[in-house]
Amino acid sequence: MAGNWKMFKTPAETIAFFEKFRPLVANSEHCEIVICPPFTNLAAAVDAAKGTHIRVGAQNIAWAKEGAFTGEISGPMIAAVGATYTIVGHSERRQYFGETDETVLKRTQAALEFGLTPIVCVGERLEERESGNTEAVLIGQCQKGIAGLTEQQFAKIVIAYEPVWAIGTGKTATPEIAADAHRTIRAQVRAKFGKEAGDAVRILYGGSVKPDNVKSLMAQPEIDGSLVGGASLDAVSFAGIVNF
Ligand code: PGA
Repeated sequence: MAGNWKMFKTPAETIAFFEKFRPLVANSEHCEIVICPPFTNLAAAVDAAKGTHIRVGAQNIAWAKEGAFTGEISGPMIAAVGATYTIVGHSERRQYFGETDETVLKRTQAALEFGLTPIVCVGERLEERESGNTEAVLIGQCQKGIAGLTEQQFAKIVIAYEPVWAIGTGKTATPEIAADAHRTIRAQVRAKFGKEAGDAVRILYGGSVKPDNVKSLMAQPEIDGSLVGGASLDAVSFAGIVNF
C-alpha cells in the first residue's frame, strides 16, 4: 500500500502525520507500506519511519546520476537520505511535465541502477477509454516503457495501474474495470518476461482509493495493492486503507 502525497505537506506536517500513523499500523505486517512525500520531506519521513516497517519513497527520479539538470533529483541523492522507493511516470508528470514512455523507461532504469524500487505508473485518459482504446494504450505503455527492461530489472519493479479519469476525481474504477486492466498488463508481462514474472509482479491500483472502497478493489485477485493519493494524506484514512 503506497501513499503518494503529491505536492502536499511540510516537514513538520510530515512528522505530525507519522506520529499519528505509526501506532495505527504497528501491527500491520501483512503488507508493505510506502509513503512518498515531496523531496523536501524525505529526510523527515525517513527519520520518523525509523524502527518501523514503513518505507519511504520519492515521487520522481532523474535519469542521470548527477549533472546540469536544474530542478531534478537523482537516485543517489534519494538513496542517500534513506528512501528506498520512487514513483516513476505518474500521469501528472506525463500530463504537466512532458514525461513520455521513453523518459519513464530511463527513469525506471536509473531507479534500479541506484538500488531503488520503482513504482511505474501506467493508465489511460478518459478520451482513450471512451474511444475504446484502453487496451491499446496500456499495451503501448508496457511495450515502450517496461518491456525495455532486462528480466532481472523487471523482477524488481512494481507497476501501478492508474486510470487518469479516476485520479483525484472521486470516480473509482469498478473492481471489474480495474481487474480487467490489470489482466491486460499482466498478459503483456507474461508475453515479454514469461509466466513466472507475470504471476510474481505486483500491480497496484490507483485512482480515488478510499477506506470505504479499498476492500472491494482488493477482493480482486488481480489487484495486489493500492497507490493512494488524497486519502493517504490523513493518517487515520491511510491506516484504514492499509488495514482494510
Ligand atoms: P487519488 O490519487 O487517490 O487522489 O485519486 C492517486 C494517484 O494519483 O496516485
